[in-house]
Amino acid sequence: MSDVTTFSATVSATTRNGILLVTIDNPPVNATSADVRLGLSRALAHAEAEPTISGMAITGAGKTFVGGADIREFGKPPVEPTLPDVIEKIEALSKPVVAALNGTALGGGLELALACHYRIASPMAQVGLPEVKLGIVPGAGGTQRLPRLIGVPAAIELITSGRIAKINEALSLGILDELAETDLIDVAINALQKLAGTPLRRTGELAVAPADPIEIEKVSGKLLAKARGQKALAEAVRLIASSHRPLGEGLADERATFLTLRDSREAAALRHVFFAERETSKVTGLEDVDARPVNTIGICGLGLMGSGIAVSALGAGYTVIGLDQTPEAAEKGRERIIGLLERNLASGRQDQAGFDAQTARLSVTATDADLAACDLVIEAVFDDLDVKIDLFRRLDKVIRPDTILATNTSYLNPDEIASATRHPGRVLGLHFFSPAHVMRLLEVVRCSETATDVLATGLAVAKRLRKLPVVTGVTEGFIGNRIFSAYRREAEFLLEDGALPHEIDAALEDYGFPMGLFAVNDMAGLEIAWARRKRQMATRDPFERYVEIADRLCETGRLGQKSGRGWYAYPDGKRTVDPQVTAIIEAERAKKGVAARSFSREEIQQRLLNAMAAEGEALLAEGIAARASDIDLVMINGYGFPAHKGGPMFEKG
Ligand code: 3HC
Repeated sequence: MSDVTTFSATVSATTRNGILLVTIDNPPVNATSADVRLGLSRALAHAEAEPTISGMAITGAGKTFVGGADIREFGKPPVEPTLPDVIEKIEALSKPVVAALNGTALGGGLELALACHYRIASPMAQVGLPEVKLGIVPGAGGTQRLPRLIGVPAAIELITSGRIAKINEALSLGILDELAETDLIDVAINALQKLAGTPLRRTGELAVAPADPIEIEKVSGKLLAKARGQKALAEAVRLIASSHRPLGEGLADERATFLTLRDSREAAALRHVFFAERETSKVTGLEDVDARPVNTIGICGLGLMGSGIAVSALGAGYTVIGLDQTPEAAEKGRERIIGLLERNLASGRQDQAGFDAQTARLSVTATDADLAACDLVIEAVFDDLDVKIDLFRRLDKVIRPDTILATNTSYLNPDEIASATRHPGRVLGLHFFSPAHVMRLLEVVRCSETATDVLATGLAVAKRLRKLPVVTGVTEGFIGNRIFSAYRREAEFLLEDGALPHEIDAALEDYGFPMGLFAVNDMAGLEIAWARRKRQMATRDPFERYVEIADRLCETGRLGQKSGRGWYAYPDGKRTVDPQVTAIIEAERAKKGVAARSFSREEIQQRLLNAMAAEGEALLAEGIAARASDIDLVMINGYGFPAHKGGPMFEKG
């Protein structure tokens, strides 16, 4: 092997048997930053000019091949050479170029590989074009070269879903050519030696297999229906579906579309979300704090929430001990958990071996002392302070002193629960969202006495559960429900001022929420919020504006969809506007002497956004939320706020 040749700070190479072995080393994910593009273009020029070199392999350092274009460069002045320039040079090289995928190849990373003349991958490799998740389309040939390899319908599915394909699927689809069973570089050198002197297979020169327009419609229709006004999806479909035209024409269209979308508000919002997700678990003061080891999790209360948490924990490889009040209730809980696991098995999300392993790690009991083996106990019992305090006092006596106690309360004060225990430092809140095995958001509640390593453990467990943790301080409803309450209060002001529930819901859906607020309330049921309002009645500030419409509805038995009527009527299960609700609203307006006015969709959207953002500002000022972007993540992942709008704080920032 030759000495190392340095092409740039991030691209270097060695030569073996006349093959130039180029390594991209640009931590953390080998993104194709300006320096990488420069290094690669120099390496390509060197390979072309140097007669002793017969071919070139490109690989990445570390566990990623190339994670894509450098997202941090977006929005900055462009620096030559561009990624499409480099990729064009790869495809046009007169000597064979092999992509040796040591790990994940995403976005521009996969586009780079697609332009190589052959693609070999280690078993860890996975591929994808996730650009639509950033509000853009692939901008370096992905929409034109991928269909040349795998056909239009499969390319539409992969690109518009933005999903990652694992090695076996990538091989069977034809994205990758060979699995390296032995050393990746040895296999790449072997392949290059075989390729020398043979005609090169340039992806861009391949014909796109003719596709049935009905099939294209079928694949894209479902995805576009869920697009909620996002432009990138439709543009991606258009570009892929027209990939049979000459390559140059398709590439020029793709690049122009990419550049327009990259500079859009939608893309800026999704980039904000991308970085917010990576920022959220970075908590000041925890940098050098080790999490406690957690292998066994106890879950108290095996209702819907507890069962969902159990499924999530079993899926992450934890041993789970479920506790309920009686052996019968515990057994019922076990059946509910197994039922959820069986659904995963039936849908193919889980194989039989995985199912067997998960059920083997589950046990249930009605005896507190059986939780002695737990490293973490999460309670998901009835949301009542006395019930929770009683449980924590009992647990205090049977668990180890270093076992962590977490409460899943939504509205109670976890500091009060903690102070009833002997070691308040080991108590924190883990506020899951329902259904807990599906929803990604997890509010990690830092109580006034939570120890730093307990908080670090909460974050580590969240990560292993594949949740999106957001740290919140103690306040009624934490970050999410406090903003939700403010937003809901504003929606009720709007009702009283002149808008009707279906008009507010239509404005929200038009904005990008999957469902309007009143429809959501009907689905969840109105009785819990009603009970809370009744509890707060005595302490409510009499000078604060209070809208009684929801109370009137509940008093007439309109408790939501389960009761057959709520903000809407449900004849034959279909949500419809109910004149009786309109009459109740009008009567309340008349009682307060409000002259109803009409609101445009934009006005409704602005009032609700302002209410959310104002509450968000208050949470920041009070130190409950650490950063505005955390608030955005909570609203996007827990309350249906459209990700492509970036969240209420981004919108108003
Ligand atoms: N550009 C710049 N920074 C990136 C990046 C990218 N493409 N991808 C990841 N990073 C950064 C993250 O911000 C994070 O930085 P931090 O440590 O300062 O917070 C760091 O890399 C590590 O990221 P993760 O925590 O996500 O690391 P994982 O190991 O969990 O995941 C990954 C690695 C699967 C590569 C994941 O980071 C990922 O999905 N990245 C984005 C991939 C992507 O969207 N690529 C397409 C980019 S657009 C494009 O290529 C356009 C082209 O078509 C022209």
